Amino acid sequence: MTGGASREAIERHYDVGRDFYQLWLDPRMVYSCAYWPGELGADLEAAQVAKLDWHATAARVDGTARVLDVGCGWGAMMTYLTCERGVGHVTGLTLSADQAGYVGEHQPDADIRLEDWRDHRADGPYDAVISIGAFEHFARPELSIAQRRDVYRGFFEHCASWLAPAGRLSLQTIAYEDFDQTNGAVSSFFTDEVFPESTLPYISDIVTAAEPSFRVLALRSDGDQYAQTLKLWQGRLQARQREATELVGRATYRHYVRYLRVSRAMFERRVCTLYRLVLERRGAARVPELH
Ligand SMILES: C[S@@+](CC[C@H](N)C(=O)[O-])C[C@H]1O[C@@H](n2cnc3c(N)ncnc32)[C@H](O)[C@@H]1O
Repeated sequence: MTGGASREAIERHYDVGRDFYQLWLDPRMVYSCAYWPGELGADLEAAQVAKLDWHATAARVDGTARVLDVGCGWGAMMTYLTCERGVGHVTGLTLSADQAGYVGEHQPDADIRLEDWRDHRADGPYDAVISIGAFEHFARPELSIAQRRDVYRGFFEHCASWLAPAGRLSLQTIAYEDFDQTNGAVSSFFTDEVFPESTLPYISDIVTAAEPSFRVLALRSDGDQYAQTLKLWQGRLQARQREATELVGRATYRHYVRYLRVSRAMFERRVCTLYRLVLERRGAARVPELH
């Protein structure tokens, strides 16, 4: 089964170019919901570091030898893990050539692969797996709910096969909340123009797919934090309107402002939320002795 978004579909969104994203993301180029441990605030950079920290701690990475980042973007987590958390070796997967090129230029020793997780063959076991903001691309809108769950189950089975028993997966993804998708996609603007070939899961899809391979240790629902992140991104982009328009043209600039505004409205109206899940690989099934 093809399953999720193709490389062409991913590149349509992400290969608009690093110069454009650099105008409005934080300096580390993190492109996913930030984390405010207390009150929501305006310091995007600190909140993105707090997010990297949250997942690294959740996945218990400190001093480990090998970590996998599925959907590594421009490599912020890879740098953070090796430089600030003492991880020996980080492998990053992305489907965007621009992102892979950026990581290669900025982290010459990085193990960056332009590769779908479905094709990833681990050189050895990983101590932890982290995946932030990629799960949203793993299933296509035309798949039935059963088919989507099969795709998600496949992802969790792959993660479990890469991890040692009790190894952790820290996962962050957007999901539908107060929305009934049996009547169709939430908006053709998203499925056709922003994130083609991608659809969102429900929490029940994630848990049903993960349960055979993983225990659920923790779950946070942080939709308000994504609304705040989107608000900050939109403000930063609009503050750089002139440079953005010079780089990508007026139509693309306006498209991005609209996408950030409509996305925020979806979180504020609870159509979607943002989940952060900590999962622990189950060991080999043990059959209890009965007397
Ligand atoms: C929204 S970005 C998040 C990047 C990064 N984790 C961050 O937080 O900045 C989504 C990432 O998922 C990657 N991705 C999507 N589908 C993928 C797949 N099937 N296999 C590997 N990477 C994938 C994209 O290439 C992109 O790097």
